[in-house]
Amino acid sequence: MRARVVASQNGSVGIQAALDVLTLGGAAVDAVVAGLSLVEANPEDRSVGYGGIPNFLGQVELDASVMIGSDLSAGSVAALQHYQDAAKLAQMVMQELPHVLLVGAGANRLAGEMGLEEKNLLTPETEQLWKDGLEGTYANPEFTDYLTKMRTLIGTVTSDPQLVERPYGTVNFICQDEEGRIASGVSTSGWGWKYPGRVGDSPIIGAGNYCDDRYGAAACTGRGELAQRACTAHSIVTFMRFGLSIEEAVRQALTDLARLDDPLRGEMNVVALSREGEPWGAATVPGRFYVYQEAGMAQHEVRQRVVVPIYEAQEPTM
Ligand code: GLY
Repeated sequence: MRARVVASQNGSVGIQAALDVLTLGGAAVDAVVAGLSLVEANPEDRSVGYGGIPNFLGQVELDASVMIGSDLSAGSVAALQHYQDAAKLAQMVMQELPHVLLVGAGANRLAGEMGLEEKNLLTPETEQLWKDGLEGTYANPEFTDYLTKMRTLIGTVTSDPQLVERPYGTVNFICQDEEGRIASGVSTSGWGWKYPGRVGDSPIIGAGNYCDDRYGAAACTGRGELAQRACTAHSIVTFMRFGLSIEEAVRQALTDLARLDDPLRGEMNVVALSREGEPWGAATVPGRFYVYQEAGMAQHEVRQRVVVPIYEAQEPTM
């Protein structure tokens, strides 16, 4: 079969590098990390790695995970500070430790021990954006206590249709080699202005990322709390296991989110790949895309995601 890569749209800066790893005979998980690392290094992407929008206190906290579908190995980091290479570190957790998930100080410690480069992840542009959120464009001067201010800010930025910098974003990569082996990975700086220490779906195996060569793989972007509550990535792979097509599996997993009460009415997006190599992208709102490239294609294609609406038209209530 042909080597192939499916990624969320912001993965376009890394998709060629990921495919190159596969076509040169590299492992699918190395292709995933190659792709994710270029997105983490991209300061234009405000939802991942260097230049990600920080938490409420102005600290950039990163979450990431990788998974190998041939033996279900997995590694993750959460609330990592001062190191850009969250996906590489997740791979190191998987390879170097008898653990799956490291958080906060432990993740920072391993990054130092593994010789990853320490870096200030806050760019002047994201620092300004963060301040605008706290004090400028989205601030409500009536609120002075910390929790009310944070909740109001998140509600405002989430419901603003004009907002260019959405408060949550993430990158997904799913890579399949010529032998059909699959690996998947996710990286994010999580919600902008989030409560310090908040961990989303991206480093939670089964929520934001899941992969099993026997059936396929899936990964999520969007409001992580929804995927955490419904185990969305694992659900998609399990639905394929029980015979649903990739389209049916993705539709079912997104439809299942409709019964979750969510005052923010957040969106969810998924990319998926079947074991036969069929890619799929879907979102709960219109206007979302994903990227796809396989061996032999000179460049990636940008593809529209199928829309699976989960809310009736209604304004957010928070
Ligand atoms: N989906 C990324 C997050 O919620 O953190």
